Amino acid sequence: MLLDMIRPYRVGGSTVLDVGGGIGVIDSELLRAGAGHAVLVDASAAYLDVARQEARQANLLERIEFVHGDFVRRATEIDAADIVTLDRVVCCYPDADALVGSSAARARRVHGLVLPRDRWLVRVAIRILNLGSQIRRRAYRAYAHTNSRIDQLVAAEGLRPRSERATFFWRVVVYDRATGGGAEGSTA
Ligand SMILES: C[S@@+](CC[C@H](N)C(=O)[O-])C[C@H]1O[C@@H](n2cnc3c(N)ncnc32)[C@H](O)[C@@H]1O
Repeated sequence: MLLDMIRPYRVGGSTVLDVGGGIGVIDSELLRAGAGHAVLVDASAAYLDVARQEARQANLLERIEFVHGDFVRRATEIDAADIVTLDRVVCCYPDADALVGSSAARARRVHGLVLPRDRWLVRVAIRILNLGSQIRRRAYRAYAHTNSRIDQLVAAEGLRPRSERATFFWRVVVYDRATGGGAEGSTA
């Protein structure tokens, strides 16, 4: 869904910053769609290893820069990009203000997010997930950040919500800049 909502923008020749990119699905797809270069930042070295292998197999290694670490801590070293994505990452990080504020600040044209919806059933599911992690003594915790707060953080960086879709659990939202960031064919 996120890719479908980003593709109407001018992807050709654009730069991509994929925060918490995991094995690099978003990067590979946008590069295949014509993007010029991608930076994939992830806190997990294991995910980055797989992302490198996938990129090598797809012949995309030279077009992706891999950055290991917490994006919030490394943000000042990372350049702005035309398209910035966080696909199911906001729910993995406690400080949404820092994560979303610093990623939105680096989005020149488009900022795409996939995050848990504001629904009581989703909050209950996340509590159950966290209880399971706690019982298994895993450090991982999921977070259901308030969607309106996320919108405020992105708006504070000059971006507005332009398209939105949802599944039972996830909200998929694409923001763009009022000037020059619109999707091709859009009237707004
Ligand atoms: C659920 S996975 C999603 C991976 C990928 N975006 C996808 O949709 O397939 C969340 C990823 O975000 C990464 N992550 C979470 N917070 C992060 C942060 N502050 N900086 C960098 N990576 C982060 C995790 O290491 C993990 O790889």
